[in-house]
Amino acid sequence: MTSEQIDLITKSWSRVSQDPNLIQSFYDKLFEIAPSTKHYFPADLTMQSEKLAYTLGFVVGNLDRLENIQDAIQKLGSTHKKLKVKEEEYGFMKEALLITIDNALSGDNTPTIQAWDEVLTYLAESMVNAENHSKNKKKSFLNKIFGN
Ligand code: HEM
Repeated sequence: MTSEQIDLITKSWSRVSQDPNLIQSFYDKLFEIAPSTKHYFPADLTMQSEKLAYTLGFVVGNLDRLENIQDAIQKLGSTHKKLKVKEEEYGFMKEALLITIDNALSGDNTPTIQAWDEVLTYLAESMVNAENHSKNKKKSFLNKIFGN
């Protein structure tokens, strides 16, 4: 990830994350692309939406030191393994998020969306490859926030 890409992601996130409907639009898109993922989620997505937005912001804020947040990402991956989220479903999630971000920005966003594609691919790969149980007992950042 180049510093230009980090810049594109950071700037686009600070714009799109101000849209209060962003995450709802994302879930609408996800359920349109992959209706089979709907069964995982509770009917009320309020808490889930906040956590997802918070986590994306957390990752965006650490793009220049992703190795430092590996623990937190691994822990999140373990949580998703327990939920039995399948590898291909991360692809749907990525696609829905890329479309949502693209729609929320105006104009031609090709380099920005390519940069997001890279970071979401990295995130999904790290989560899919997470250990079932985190070997590291030290509480990670997300751990502290979400308390599991
Ligand atoms: C980059 C990929 C993803 C990120 C960043 C992400 C983020 C999160 C976060 C932060 C939580 C809250 C964890 C907690 O409460 O401790 C969560 C929970 C959850 N995620 Fe994901 N997630 C991703 C991919 C997926 C995918 C692909 C699915 C399934 C299609 C999924 C389904 C769920 C479900 C079902 C929950 C629990 C909801 C509940 O019952 O409260 N996630 N995710």
